[in-house]
Amino acid sequence: MRKIVIAGNWKMYKTQAEALEFLRGFTSELETIPDDRDIVLCVPFTDLEILSRSLHGSRIQIGAQNVHWETAGAYTGEISGSMLTELGTRFVVVGHSERRQYFCETNETANLRLKAAQKAGLTPILCVGETKQQRDAGDTESHIFNQLEKGLVDVNQQNLVVAYEPIWAIGTGDTCASTEANRVVGLIRSKLTNPNVTIQYGGSVKPDNIDEIMAQPEIDGVLVGGASLDAKGFARIANYQFPKYQ
Ligand code: 13P
Repeated sequence: MRKIVIAGNWKMYKTQAEALEFLRGFTSELETIPDDRDIVLCVPFTDLEILSRSLHGSRIQIGAQNVHWETAGAYTGEISGSMLTELGTRFVVVGHSERRQYFCETNETANLRLKAAQKAGLTPILCVGETKQQRDAGDTESHIFNQLEKGLVDVNQQNLVVAYEPIWAIGTGDTCASTEANRVVGLIRSKLTNPNVTIQYGGSVKPDNIDEIMAQPEIDGVLVGGASLDAKGFARIANYQFPKYQ
């Protein structure tokens, strides 16, 4: 059975004080987390330790937003896998479109990061997705298949999450129709060797569309940006109820 993973990606938001304030509100709103799902907060590096300590013994897990492919070395500004796991980090976002757009991330560097994350004992969340121009040109499928083919070379699909994040739906309020997201997620699954990989949808997920998104049979979770910054809103997303797989 595929695991449901509901993850927040805080991007470059929240100081430690703000992270703790979020946690107070979030945990008080969070219902008992059903066994079928993981709740993950992918936070700035500077928030990892304090959240990890505060969440010790909790079902809420911690993720980072990047990892370098070497275990150590002269790589100013980078963070290694063991530095993350030492702080209790369990997940790491890899190849997010913002890293591809602003920080020269490529399919090849994403592939190196995926393998390094797995070697360190982290579960990587590989982000793929098309731009508006690629969609309008009919290139959605070929673009995503290329990202998967290059990104997943020698990657262990037993310890992997993939997130379908159409770039035009990120931060725009312009959610991909849930049936279309379901279709693309199904196509992504057809390209994987392990049919049990968790595949998320990401892009303007909100409390008022989570139930519809999670009702789609191919979609195993969400990667949430803006709406994960609000404790009450993200608790509503994590608490979504739908009798999946029943
Ligand atoms: P929004 O939920 O703000 O659209 O961001 C999605 C995202 O980029 C998650 O990684």
